Amino acid sequence: MLRLDKLTKSFGGLTAINDVSITFQPGEIVGLIGPNGAGKTTLFNLITGVLPPTQGRVFFGERDITGLRPHRVARLGIGRTFQQTRIFHDLKVVDNVVLARPEVNGGLARALCTLPSVKRAWAQEAIAHLEFLGLADRAQEYGGDLSYAEQKLVMFACLMASGATTLLLDEPTAGLDPTSHLGMIATVTRLRRPGTTIVLIEHNLDIVRGCCDRVVFLAEGAVKAVGSTDEVERSPELRDLYFGTGSTK
Ligand SMILES: Nc1ncnc2c1ncn2[C@@H]1O[C@H](COP(=O)(O)OP(=O)(O)O)[C@@H](O)[C@H]1O
Ligand SMILES: [Mg+2]
Repeated sequence: MLRLDKLTKSFGGLTAINDVSITFQPGEIVGLIGPNGAGKTTLFNLITGVLPPTQGRVFFGERDITGLRPHRVARLGIGRTFQQTRIFHDLKVVDNVVLARPEVNGGLARALCTLPSVKRAWAQEAIAHLEFLGLADRAQEYGGDLSYAEQKLVMFACLMASGATTLLLDEPTAGLDPTSHLGMIATVTRLRRPGTTIVLIEHNLDIVRGCCDRVVFLAEGAVKAVGSTDEVERSPELRDLYFGTGSTK
């Protein structure tokens, strides 16, 4: 369980996150929606330790993880993908995925890496993740040779290899053409596990409806509505922002 308790983040005079309390349960897929600048990515940065909150706490299970460094947060099992793809273009796809393993961040990794049997086992696991995502045939290609959509899937494979049980996905459909959207719904749905929490930042309400159990609507740094996609879609705040005159979208 991931619990945000009265989180606030200010950048100088700008309050990007304003007194946000949300609990994410194991097993659920939650959509985090809201206009550009609502504070969605900032919320992920506060959870993952990239930014310290100005006020409030982040709890993971019983543990207060507020202010932990990003690598410590990652080791606890909180993983994320980024709006832009972040994979190594000059490395093979399979090696990109191997590098995401938690062991590889520790000093032990380099030593272990030299053992061919260990390397083989890691590569096999990486290929299994790629296979799960329909990318096994690209495993031996260089990251930079893959399409943008494929690179996004490599980020998902990296997340699987990291062993994360809380997956924070920052606009995985950003930059993809609409024909890939159904595939993204399927991919996110397939990442669901009994103990795994998925938080999906997504603008497109059809995608949110396609894979999320629950939706949190964030605007101007504050939670404006929580509920099913239909409930949130009916909220006046959202209707105004998404469909109203003077819409920010
Ligand atoms: N590191 C930062 N320094 C200053 N301002 C920031 C920083 N990160 C985000 N912001 C500001 O906080 C607000 C929320 O940004 P962001 O979380 O990226 O929104 P979203 O992901 O919902 O589009 C924006 O006004 C943005 O300019
Ligand atoms: Mg963002």
